Amino acid sequence: MPNWLKDAVFYEIYPQSFYDTNGDGIGDIPGIIAKLDYIKDLGCNALWINPCYDSPFKDAGYDVRDYLKIAPRYGTNEDMYRLFETAHSKGIHVLLDLVPGHTSEEHEWFKASGREARNKYSDRYIWTDFWISGIAGHPYIGGECERNGTYMLNFFKCQPALNYGFFNPTEKWQKSYKDPACVATQDALMDVMRFWLDNGCDGFRVDMADSLVKDDDKDKTGTCSIWRRIREMLDKDYPEAALVSEWSNPKQAINSAGFHMDFYLDHVENGYNTLLRDYETWGGTKEDHSFFKKDGDGDVGRFLKDYLPKYEATKKKGYISFITCNHDTPRATNTLDESELKVAYATLLTLPGVPFIYYGDEIGMRYIKDIATKEGGYTRTGTRTPMQWDDSANCGFSTAEPEQLYLPIDAEGPTVKAQAERKDSLYNAVRDVLKIRHENPSLAADASFEVIKGDKDSLFIYKRGELTIVVNTRTEARKMAVPKLNVNPMSGKPGKVEPVYTIGDVNFDGTTLTMPPQSFAIFKKA
Ligand code: NOJ
Repeated sequence: MPNWLKDAVFYEIYPQSFYDTNGDGIGDIPGIIAKLDYIKDLGCNALWINPCYDSPFKDAGYDVRDYLKIAPRYGTNEDMYRLFETAHSKGIHVLLDLVPGHTSEEHEWFKASGREARNKYSDRYIWTDFWISGIAGHPYIGGECERNGTYMLNFFKCQPALNYGFFNPTEKWQKSYKDPACVATQDALMDVMRFWLDNGCDGFRVDMADSLVKDDDKDKTGTCSIWRRIREMLDKDYPEAALVSEWSNPKQAINSAGFHMDFYLDHVENGYNTLLRDYETWGGTKEDHSFFKKDGDGDVGRFLKDYLPKYEATKKKGYISFITCNHDTPRATNTLDESELKVAYATLLTLPGVPFIYYGDEIGMRYIKDIATKEGGYTRTGTRTPMQWDDSANCGFSTAEPEQLYLPIDAEGPTVKAQAERKDSLYNAVRDVLKIRHENPSLAADASFEVIKGDKDSLFIYKRGELTIVVNTRTEARKMAVPKLNVNPMSGKPGKVEPVYTIGDVNFDGTTLTMPPQSFAIFKKA
């Protein structure tokens, strides 16, 4: 387990929209290098950069045409190596996005695979043996290549599935995941990983990590066995490299597959949704009872019921990663205001595990609802607009003409400059909490976590090592007798505690603690 993860706080960068240094309207790698000090000053010491490889960009770069080449619109491989080096000199680790499940239909492997004559890549993708066949439960495409067969997709039409085999082949064109041809796909993936790790990258966020072996069993036995093999390679040759999975099933991803971290995502209805995205169901909406919604009548117990068993089952082996948002989901500003977000992010950033902040969330960038789709973004596009730095042209994102920008600026939205200037802003709350997180080993990813109070109609109170954290998400002030809080968390005996950080006018008179509406406090033994 890489030791650096204990104190890691990640910043996710959607490179298209972060900072443009060459005036073409699209963010670039030199732009990320230029903003490393901003990221460090915010309190983040690790990056996850969305795919920046050569691509036709039909799915914003998740359709990789060449895994080993940086997309020219972002710069060159040398720029990326320089980013690794500069980031490291500032104590920042960098994860790239690994897309193992599919490539672009324009990848050379796929072009070769679609040829009639058998070649080295014929089995690199999942092909049926007749031009109109397939099996239920998977999408297949025919009519695009000369080969007499159809190929399976992993996501969009432009993303043919790489062949890691089937758990239990039922058709003669299907291969077992243990077949040498499918093991060759694993080897090719490991070559890609080695290439970037050898050039200075610190690991990967892994896209659709659970999607490798088709028709896998319910425990994902086949897919987990592949990741365990990859983890062995890392442990042996790159012990400081880290992997975080897009899986959202930590027991599988961490305990069985060997990922160091697994995202706690809004893909499925789970505890994360009940905190700040309770309104969302895939393809629909419902009444919002998010815990962080001040008038949502939320219940932190719903979150804990889902989270605690997952946390307990995985805490010795890896970390569950909370996210403020990501490039696939509406920004939390969609339903939460600044006072709600301050409490929400302060809480997420003081829970166990390794947290991820999506660029712009620290300043409360807005989710833009009515925006035209871009590069396969659809409803995700409104979460991918340019970072708003200051009050200069294009909010300091780019010197291009506004119509040339990757996506439009949110003219009414927040900027880093305005947020940094206002003392009680969301940005300053995030920055302050991160500072405290790094200063206190009690807030490390692996430090202890104990829920003191986490039921409906109550304050949420939890202990992290020697710190006690109290959260009030509601519109009413809450009072509690201090003796409860005045127990020295280390010894369990009475002792004094004092607030080290508060959001809101928290009053602590030695006997009673008053938590005003939407407030947050961290107490430490005196
Ligand atoms: C998940 C990624 O986060 C998303 O952006 C992408 O479209 C799909 N996987 C397909 O790669």
